[in-house]
Amino acid sequence: MGRFDGRVAIITGAARGIGLGVATRFAEEGASVAVVDLDESAAAGAASTLPGEAKHLGIGANVGDAASVEAAVERTVTELGGLHILMNNAGVTRDNLLFKMSEDDWDLVMNVHLKGAFLMTRAAQRHFVAHKYGKVVNVSSTSALGNRGQANYSAAKMGIQGFTRTLGIELGPFGINVNAIAPGFIATDMTDATAARLGLAVEDFRTMAADQNPVRRVGYPEDIAAAATFLASDEASYITGQTLYVDGGATLG
Ligand code: NAI
Repeated sequence: MGRFDGRVAIITGAARGIGLGVATRFAEEGASVAVVDLDESAAAGAASTLPGEAKHLGIGANVGDAASVEAAVERTVTELGGLHILMNNAGVTRDNLLFKMSEDDWDLVMNVHLKGAFLMTRAAQRHFVAHKYGKVVNVSSTSALGNRGQANYSAAKMGIQGFTRTLGIELGPFGINVNAIAPGFIATDMTDATAARLGLAVEDFRTMAADQNPVRRVGYPEDIAAAATFLASDEASYITGQTLYVDGGATLG
């Protein structure tokens, strides 16, 4: 018996990294998972690695595009038989100091994180409200609190926290919980790309990040998966509108 037996989950940006870690854990707990990512073959490849008896699906979709989002949600409901959990995880970075930040870099980051979470949640809530059941887990970041070179990303990730609180108010009466996770440094392609941009070796960058936080290690997708599994479960049904920092204490000061 898993906590998600009979449940259907959509996880965006789940072809790799944190999303794939969460998808794997949800599948272990019995969920049927729709892996949504930009490239359909990468999404299908990731879905084919997921454990468990339930059916999984890979869907190519751009979370910033309304038609693409509507089609992804409808396909999930049709092919997997319903929808109970949505994790808005898809993300990109386009870091630069403000005076060098282009409009395109601003727009892309807003479009994927904020508009993507809006479009996906709007499409999913129809199904959640109809069945008076739903769990939304959004992905914020410790960068929401401010991070040099990430004005676009920080604004989007703090926006996610406001979005989460507001939907907690709006959707609570319909049996829907909406929460967010704010990860600290998690070892994925995203942080490896940051290391490359800074001209650092991946291991050196991870060691620096580990040295800067109280638990003296970096995080892994499994750390976020553990928190997401709790927030998407019925054990967390009295928690809504919250942002849980999963950062090894990095933001404690
Ligand atoms: P990643 O770069 O490894 O994976 C992100 C995934 O999102 C990729 O598979 C990518 O193709 C997909 N994606 C990008 N744009 C998309 C779009 N428009 N539509 C659909 N899919 C799209 O990144 P990672 O590290 O796994 O990050 C996942 C989430 O966690 C992101 O929201 C990120 O901002 C957030 N986060 C990551 C942290 C880290 O240290 N890695 C720290 C805090 C937050």
